[in-house]
Amino acid sequence: MKKVVLTYNSQGGLEYEQNVFGDFAGIVKIPCRTEEDLIKNCIDADAVICSYEPYTAYVMDNLPKLKIIAVKAIGVDTVDIEAARQRGIAVTNIPKYCIHEVADHTVMLMLSINRRLIQFNNSVQKDKLWKFDICKDISRFGEGTVGLLGFGNIPRLVTERLKGFGPKVIAYDPYVDEKIADEYGVDLVDIDDLYSNSDYICCHLPHNKNTEKTINKEAFDKMKDGVVFINTGRGKVVDEKALIDALDSGKVGYAGLDVLEEEYPDMSTSPLNGRDNVILTPHVAFYSQASVRDAKIHSAENILYYLKGEYSKCSIINGVKA
Ligand code: NAI
Repeated sequence: MKKVVLTYNSQGGLEYEQNVFGDFAGIVKIPCRTEEDLIKNCIDADAVICSYEPYTAYVMDNLPKLKIIAVKAIGVDTVDIEAARQRGIAVTNIPKYCIHEVADHTVMLMLSINRRLIQFNNSVQKDKLWKFDICKDISRFGEGTVGLLGFGNIPRLVTERLKGFGPKVIAYDPYVDEKIADEYGVDLVDIDDLYSNSDYICCHLPHNKNTEKTINKEAFDKMKDGVVFINTGRGKVVDEKALIDALDSGKVGYAGLDVLEEEYPDMSTSPLNGRDNVILTPHVAFYSQASVRDAKIHSAENILYYLKGEYSKCSIINGVKA
């Protein structure tokens, strides 16, 4: 029987995973944060299921039996994919398990900001006022332009949702065919045009060496004054200090952030906290009961099919087939 260790702090029990494995594998849950935790707890594992744990080359070198790292996510930025490839360890992800939730969350952040939801709610419930004119600078959402950074699965769903609201949608993604953008009615533009023409900029970029801190001071300087900046992608793609400066100067008028530079930030000291013009959610855009269920099932299926050699049924992202 194969041994699988689940190393993130998953909700609930392991029934979904065990149900997929049947007699083929046994699974245990041991939440880990550090490289040492992973080495200690996965030493005899054939497979692991992880979320944001640091699967580095050093960790892999110390896990002699490991054949597959099944990431329970779309973004795989905390796994050294190339080191895994060199060691013959497959890395899998789950490309679509939560894309509807993240698209909903992205649109929710834009609309909440546009309609000043936080301001009006605070005015009524905290200040006990019933005044419609505490925010006079509200634009009509459908007359604006939304710029999508990245045009993968999630921003495509954002585009579909936005059709009912009416804004013009443009996108920057040099790896996407123009025909696909045409199908969605989206103009593909270069990055500077996206920055200078968008009233709302939504970041859907994956985090990797090329995208790290790509949204920096130079990028913010190119944006419209008062732009709304949304990030439901990855925090490390943004230079957080530059974002804070841009909020302080008014360059960024409002921000809606589901992800920050640190995966586990200290919110008691974060300078992003306590601002009227920033909505923060704790990396929850992916979440629904259905997405958690699907993630559990599909990450276990990736392991089952991989270890059985049925490669076409799993989502291998580093090309390794044992
Ligand atoms: P996807 O894998 O479908 O698409 C990624 C897109 O980014 C691709 O079209 C690719 O061409 C493009 N891209 C890569 N490098 C680029 C660059 N330098 N400049 C412009 N475009 C570039 O990913 P999907 O489903 O759209 O998700 C996007 C990101 O959202 C994920 O990588 C993940 O990090 C994040 N995410 C966040 C969640 C949350 O709970 N906040 C949940 C799920 C995903």
